[in-house]
Amino acid sequence: MINIAIDGPAGAGKSTIAKAVAKRLGMIYLDTGAMYRSVAYYVLEHGADVNDERAVEALLPGIEMDIRYENGMQQIYVSGKNVTPYLREPHMSKAASDVSALPCVRYKMVELQREFAASHDVVLDGRDIGTFVLPDANCKFFMTASPEERAKRRFKELTEKGSVCTFEEVLADINKRDYNDSHRAVAPLKQAEDAVRIDTTDMSIEQVTECVERIVKEKTK
Ligand code: DC
Repeated sequence: MINIAIDGPAGAGKSTIAKAVAKRLGMIYLDTGAMYRSVAYYVLEHGADVNDERAVEALLPGIEMDIRYENGMQQIYVSGKNVTPYLREPHMSKAASDVSALPCVRYKMVELQREFAASHDVVLDGRDIGTFVLPDANCKFFMTASPEERAKRRFKELTEKGSVCTFEEVLADINKRDYNDSHRAVAPLKQAEDAVRIDTTDMSIEQVTECVERIVKEKTK
């Protein structure tokens, strides 16, 4: 199986690039952030606090996560319900970041991700794929961009979807999540030693996609 890991902070362009590269190379794309978002959604739906490890741990066995592809798009079903439409709402980003810091949640998600990668040619994007989930992935990338540029992209995406927010709020959220994701005790966001670092601040989507595709082809030929 071919496994490609793309890690990096929020808004660096990982999912856009991972999707494009997967499509060009005939592989599947797995959005691991959506898995943590699904857990956060389930916990909030059950009226629990995403920071309360005992409460979350008690809910975890009830989470039967089923990842499906419908018309080429990833859909996550949790205990029979398609939760995908709810995952990108702004409050879910913070909730996902909080819940993802809990070791019990990470162990469950990492196990699912490893099982998935063992049976599919897949491009995964996340925070800890190259360092922890798949240390032997065929290719690893660490994608980043300045916080201002990442906030600019997120702000555009949110306002296009009709969200009411200011640029300053989005930038503050990005900075908070960067801090949370890189300071947690288990598998924090960091670049794997053998990852190719790509700063996308001044690059177009096409340029980054081509760069990743070229490196993947070189490394897997
Ligand atoms: O990529 P995203 O913004 O959808 O991720 C949501 C949160 O999930 C992010 O703040 C950190 C967490 N996450 C993680 O801890 N490990 C991953 N492999 C993917 C996401």
